[in-house]
Amino acid sequence: METRELGAGGPEVSVVGMGTWQTLDVAGGRDDVVTAALDAGSTFVDSSPMYGEAERTLAQGLGDRRDEAFVATKLWTPDDAEARRQAKRAIEFYGGRVDLYQVHNLVGTNQRLDLLELLRDEGKVGHIGATHYSPSAFDELEHVMRSGRISAIQIPYNPDEREVEARILPLAEQLGLGVIVMRPLGGGRLVRSAPSAQDLAPLGVETWAQALLKYVLSDPRITVAIPASSKAHRIVENAEAGEPPWFGADERKLVERLADA
Ligand SMILES: NC(=O)c1ccc[n+]([C@@H]2O[C@H](COP(=O)([O-])OP(=O)(O)OC[C@H]3O[C@@H](n4cnc5c(N)ncnc54)[C@H](OP(=O)(O)O)[C@@H]3O)[C@@H](O)[C@H]2O)c1
Repeated sequence: METRELGAGGPEVSVVGMGTWQTLDVAGGRDDVVTAALDAGSTFVDSSPMYGEAERTLAQGLGDRRDEAFVATKLWTPDDAEARRQAKRAIEFYGGRVDLYQVHNLVGTNQRLDLLELLRDEGKVGHIGATHYSPSAFDELEHVMRSGRISAIQIPYNPDEREVEARILPLAEQLGLGVIVMRPLGGGRLVRSAPSAQDLAPLGVETWAQALLKYVLSDPRITVAIPASSKAHRIVENAEAGEPPWFGADERKLVERLADA
């Protein structure tokens, strides 16, 4: 698995990580999925209190292998007291430390950043970031990116959602920010049907999901893509996309055409 710096001078993280929305929001455990991710080298894991049971399920799955992972999670509330509760819970879940703590969907950004900076000073938070899923919030995201208070952003990017190419990715590069890609498979929509093996042959990948992940990771401004799956074998399949060779312009255009077909 290739690793890249999460922002200029930042920690090295796996280029294929694992999201947890819906897939880890289960009452019991999903240890097989988390173990598959660690074993395959997809050690960047992303969660949020918005995802129901996912933070707890992830912590349970990591177990005594927590230090092998780079844990990213989020604060998601307009309320200061609730934010403190969310942070206390997550920091306990992950052995006293969250490696990347993000403001989810820019909810209460300035107050949430105040808290995260305090926790960073106490050594309980490694790095601070911000996320948003919607291009309608990209002006606000740009403002936060320029504030100097975050070192990473999380945004959607796939052949059907390319709005970040206009201003967000160039600005992230200029500022030296890490870029985490949510929804690399279009939230599952892009993988509901797949092109034929013949169509995929020029791309040198085995599966359509791998083509979509390589599409994103072939842009050097991207640090890590975080596909989510409830199935251990797909976690392994996705992790296999985290190695060069990366796509050139022609291969990326082919993926766009196949996604459009
Ligand atoms: N605002 C935010 O901060 C925000 C918003 C959205 C997402 N996120 C983060 O980004 C992560 C990824 O986004 P996402 O979960 O929305 O979408 P995604 O990763 O693009 O797609 C997930 C879907 O793809 C399927 N899938 C995964 N691997 C596959 C494969 N190899 N072959 C076929 N199907 C496959 C999964 O189904 P199966 O379970 O059946 O495999 C699941 O339904 C989230 O989990 C979350 O951590 C953050």
